[in-house]
Amino acid sequence: MEPNIPFSNDIQTVFTHDPPGQWLSKLPAGCIRLNSGYPAPSLVPSQELKAAAARLLDEEGDKPLQYIGSPRTPALAAYIQTRMAERDMAVPGDELLVTSGACQAIDLAARVLLDKEAVVAIESPTYMEALEIFQNYTEQFVTVPVDEYGMRTDMLEQQLAERRRDGRPLPRILYTIPTFQNPTGTTLSAERRQHILALAAEYDFLVVEDDAYGELAFGDTPATLKAMDSANRVFYIGSLSKTVAPGMRIGWVAAPESAITVMSWLKKDLGHPFGQALMAAYLETAAFGDRVRRLSDAYHSKRDAMLAALAAHLPESASWYVPEGGYFVWVNIPGIDAAKLLPEAMEAGVAFVPGQYFFLDRESGAGCLRLSFSYESEEQIAEGIRILGAAVTKALGK
Ligand SMILES: Cc1ncc(COP(=O)(O)O)c(C=O)c1O
Repeated sequence: MEPNIPFSNDIQTVFTHDPPGQWLSKLPAGCIRLNSGYPAPSLVPSQELKAAAARLLDEEGDKPLQYIGSPRTPALAAYIQTRMAERDMAVPGDELLVTSGACQAIDLAARVLLDKEAVVAIESPTYMEALEIFQNYTEQFVTVPVDEYGMRTDMLEQQLAERRRDGRPLPRILYTIPTFQNPTGTTLSAERRQHILALAAEYDFLVVEDDAYGELAFGDTPATLKAMDSANRVFYIGSLSKTVAPGMRIGWVAAPESAITVMSWLKKDLGHPFGQALMAAYLETAAFGDRVRRLSDAYHSKRDAMLAALAAHLPESASWYVPEGGYFVWVNIPGIDAAKLLPEAMEAGVAFVPGQYFFLDRESGAGCLRLSFSYESEEQIAEGIRILGAAVTKALGK
């Protein structure tokens, strides 16, 4: 029997539905994973990480396994600073916190900035894990549609102006994935980036910029919001999950010093010393810049394989945005209920993420599917889309 658990009054979210991930964790063996936003297995540097772990332990013995951690750990933060500086984001050490993945950075930012009075502005659709994080702190959202150039900042402005006129609370933060967005793959145009920063100043909110995919560009990309921000309003969140390995759990947040101080107090994982030391040791020999270029080329080619298969196998009525980087293609198929299509598609041998999972109301986006080209091989991508095309044709009754 369960005791009566005195849950905190601050807990906002009680899930009355299955968390979306549960469905997809039941994938039948052999099902082609166009759902998984994971790196391609062949691009995860497992042998290099093994060698780095051996070198680390040979050279340092127990140090990286103690609370105090490895003497290499500061090198990880320094490396992140160098990489950010190369992208025009010079950040002093006291404005940077290495976290257990970008997710912990989003959670810490939410923890220090939000309470149940707070309003959060988000893209609609957006990264579902971030949605769940924000819902742990507040139920108040401003949702802003996305088109092929990213967030519709004109619609953000309209909602802000209406709120101000009606005396309703304004957002405290805007969470955005401006580059190769999850789930739409879109990239916010340079004009809209300027517009967001201007609105942040005018309506006095902070911007949380999630740049989890920003390194994986197939061509040129606009400057990050952080690089364009002269007012220090942007909390920049980065990750090595997509460029090295998600299981390493290395991310970071760059933010004003006072926010970093408060986030450090609240971050009670004691720094996950071994993971940070191992990443630092790995980066010593990784030639990371070359690696990122290799990865971008590989994902570019996988994207092309997916786009060619979509053109060959989906009905004429289907449309999609062409991503210029990252992991995802967002497909719209009028007349489909993606959540209902999923079990049938899985039965036939392919999985995707239904559009509904990325919207706050869990209902919008029924005609949309997030397809990931990162994980499977080009052959499997082509086969997966062929199976999907057949399932879609069946569902449309043609
Ligand atoms: C937009 C976005 N942010 C953050 C993350 C999580 O990154 P991490 O593994 O560093 O926590 C993901 C992973 O899918 C993502 O898509």
